[in-house]
Amino acid sequence: MGKDVIIACDFSSAEKTFEFLDKFEGKKPFVKIGMELFYAEGPSIVREIKARGHKIFLDLKLHDIPNTVKKAMAVLSGLDVDMCNLHAGGTRRMMEAALEGLTRPDGTRPLLIAVTQLTSTDQESMETDLLIHEPIDKVVMHYAENAKKAGLDGVVCSPLESGKVHEVCGGDFLTVTPGVRFADGDNGDQKRVMTPAQAKEIGSDYIVVGRPITAAEDPVAAYNRCVEEFVG
Ligand code: C5P
Repeated sequence: MGKDVIIACDFSSAEKTFEFLDKFEGKKPFVKIGMELFYAEGPSIVREIKARGHKIFLDLKLHDIPNTVKKAMAVLSGLDVDMCNLHAGGTRRMMEAALEGLTRPDGTRPLLIAVTQLTSTDQESMETDLLIHEPIDKVVMHYAENAKKAGLDGVVCSPLESGKVHEVCGGDFLTVTPGVRFADGDNGDQKRVMTPAQAKEIGSDYIVVGRPITAAEDPVAAYNRCVEEFVG
């Protein structure tokens, strides 16, 4: 499982997505499809991007009773995505059921990654809304360990947490990290950011990069720069 740059294709339609991907000509970057694009276009967007030869991270963050998640994961696996995700907060039993659903009859399956606590959740909202009173760092690591015990492949986390996750869950446990910005770029609404080179240094396995590539004047050059800094 090699290091790679995943482009967050946060577009509202297939048309805008293909207009963007067409710029890459011969190249086939790993792309992330999120809820907005998936709900706008349905499974056909996954099939079409796959048919163009891209790897796909389908970021739908499933969270439901184990049986429902298992069946939904079987559908996603049939779409031939390369990576998908769920909320670790759905419990270990839900994660185990998800893995079962995801595994194809021939034993292959997409990578399965857990979201721990969303980065939009802070200590205060976790305590007030969720009645969780442990320090948030401890909660994140505990959820990561649960994901590992359930047999998942890794977690989505801040690049700042990658080192600790590897310490706790082992070097092979994948860290998929958004919040990446170029040293000379605009941070937008991301607060705790790292450059691709720093993310590499700290041990992230995949970086998820959206606007620094999608909103760049030359997206292909921005992507190439990410790959050079992160993969080398
Ligand atoms: O444009 P930008 O590089 O900020 O995009 C980052 C992508 O990663 C977006 O699709 C965003 O939803 C996603 N993401 C994130 N932070 C998280 C989890 C996912 O920015 N904690």
